[in-house]
Amino acid sequence: MSIKKHQVKSKLAVAYQLMHTPEVEGHIPETELLYENSFKRMMKKHGKAYIKPDRGRKSRGVMQVERLKDNRFKIRQGSDMEYVDSHELWTKIKDLTRDRRYLIQQAIDSVTKDRRHFDLRCHVLRINGKWKIGGICGRLGKRGSVVTTSHAGGTPTLIKTLFTRHLRYSRRETSDMIQKVEKCVVKTVNNVSRMYPNLKEYAVDIGIDPKKRIWIYEVNIEPLIRGNFKLLPDKTLYRRIRYMRKTAK
Ligand SMILES: Nc1ncnc2c1ncn2[C@@H]1O[C@H](COP(=O)(O)OP(=O)(O)OP(=O)(O)O)[C@@H](O)[C@H]1O
Ligand SMILES: [Mg+2]
Repeated sequence: MSIKKHQVKSKLAVAYQLMHTPEVEGHIPETELLYENSFKRMMKKHGKAYIKPDRGRKSRGVMQVERLKDNRFKIRQGSDMEYVDSHELWTKIKDLTRDRRYLIQQAIDSVTKDRRHFDLRCHVLRINGKWKIGGICGRLGKRGSVVTTSHAGGTPTLIKTLFTRHLRYSRRETSDMIQKVEKCVVKTVNNVSRMYPNLKEYAVDIGIDPKKRIWIYEVNIEPLIRGNFKLLPDKTLYRRIRYMRKTAK
């Protein structure tokens, strides 16, 4: 059986590798295995964090925890939210995460002008030994949701529309940002591909904060395009990635 079918997927392993890669370390949100001490430390330091299954996909099991005033905390999953007092917080988190291994990651404020969460799905393929961008797709979360996937009501959006209409970037800012993101993504995949040398396709999920800093949430090792590129009104990128897949090696 091919080795390719048995890649061990771990968001944490990839994050650790990138946190120790000088070229990209500045783009990696602080990430740790979730346990009581890391949870308390991250909440104290960042005030807001994401908790997610180490091998999750489609945003299943992803939650956002935020420290509020008066020792209260808010836990949000998809579009749901609940409030918890500090003394019962860890018990609650333990309960929500008892099924498998989770990580905790510093939250990035990647939101549009009207406060909808967004991220960028950047698809990369190896063509003739070089990593090439197949396409970048914006993902706009449902209003009030902390994730962006179409499986939770998010809307795949053309990157130019996302930047100009939803972030109010000028044309110049838009093309500069696309270039920066592309460079960052290729550097990232160059490094991650050392961990998974057999893979010829990756997708990098990226957030952008209000200071226009680029942050890498995760690197997907078996990226699908049905739930994102295929749903764009313009199918150019979808077709392009499908075409590139045929020559990727
Ligand atoms: N550190 C973070 N800061 C802000 N938002 C985050 C962070 N981590 C994850 N998110 C949001 O949660 C979503 C899901 O996270 P992630 O990509 O790590 O999980 P996933 O299960 O692979 O989901 P998907 O398949 O939708 O990409 C991201 O697309 C992003 O919108
Ligand atoms: Mg993802």
